[in-house]
Amino acid sequence: MHNVTLIKGDGIGPEISDAVLKIIEAAGIKINWDVQTAGADVAEIEGDPLPKRVIESIRKNKTALKAPVTTPIGKGFRSVNVRLRKELDLYANLRPCKNIDGIKTPFENVNLVVVRENTEDVYAGVEEKIDDDTMHSIKIITRKASTRIVKYAFEYAKKYGRKTVWAVSKANICKLTDGLFLECARKVSEEYPEIEYKEILVDALCMQLVQNPSKFDVLVMPNLYGDIVSDLTAGLIGGLGVAQGANIGLDCAVFEPVHGSAPDIKGKNLANPSALLLCAVQMLKHLGENEGAKKIENAFYKTIKEGKVLTADLGGSATTTEFRDEIIKNL
Ligand code: NAI
Repeated sequence: MHNVTLIKGDGIGPEISDAVLKIIEAAGIKINWDVQTAGADVAEIEGDPLPKRVIESIRKNKTALKAPVTTPIGKGFRSVNVRLRKELDLYANLRPCKNIDGIKTPFENVNLVVVRENTEDVYAGVEEKIDDDTMHSIKIITRKASTRIVKYAFEYAKKYGRKTVWAVSKANICKLTDGLFLECARKVSEEYPEIEYKEILVDALCMQLVQNPSKFDVLVMPNLYGDIVSDLTAGLIGGLGVAQGANIGLDCAVFEPVHGSAPDIKGKNLANPSALLLCAVQMLKHLGENEGAKKIENAFYKTIKEGKVLTADLGGSATTTEFRDEIIKNL
């Protein structure tokens, strides 16, 4: 049996986690869940929103499924998500983005992957107050992190038969930082002559993504661009409700949806559990549970394609639990 750390998060986190656990259970997959709490409520009791026990649990189990955790805006504690990625050195954030049959969008044949560097850039948390009217934030880009993320993107392309890796930057403006990122990308690309290497500026990429997204394949980029672009690409296939993600390091992997804790619909049984479910499918494949993963994936795609029982964000009127039960029926 697999041991997996489960962080149910807050906001809609617990509701979508429960739905996903029930679907996995109904598919007959046995997982020993090591449930860990994190976030604002935990901070009040334990003095830290991300206590050591959570990190230790993931280190021990090597795999985690994580629902969203709220981050206070503009003040309060540092993002639990960012800290988790940093402490476990989950350097690669992977966001596959493919059209789902049954979800209507203006775009067809979208099948791309955003590979986002996850540990540095302005997310390093190096900020300072100069005076009341001036704040500084320092963008950190290193050769080590840039080289390993681009390598990860090329290895991913090789493993999954992808044809092209695009390096995304703003090197025309951020000449030193993004310039170093591009220098590393060019060097790494030489080791993979069988995969085409291309470069694009992040602003041009955004325009082209909403004009002709099907031309893109694997996109690798520093942290901040990756954060923004991957939400954009989630929109191309139906929005945050169906966008999956994974944070991968050398030792551990944390699977988590792209969307946040959606406080506006918390506790209303309205949340769409699809993104967390697709993350769980990705996690099951990672654990070698390919048959069970496929079974859940097929039941999910069938439910979406039939379009009879869908949550509101997908154009339906079903509750989280009704949608969950329809997937279980289709298993
Ligand atoms: P959000 O993704 O929580 O919500 C944006 C909009 O999408 C809202 O209208 C929400 O109702 C809707 N939405 C999101 N997920 C949905 C789902 N599964 N089903 C149906 N509708 C859904 O983004 P927002 O409002 O910017 O962030 C809220 C909180 O979540 C913040 O504290 C933020 O820091 C945190 N957050 C946490 C993440 C994580 O734990 N990995 C990732 C992103 C944000």
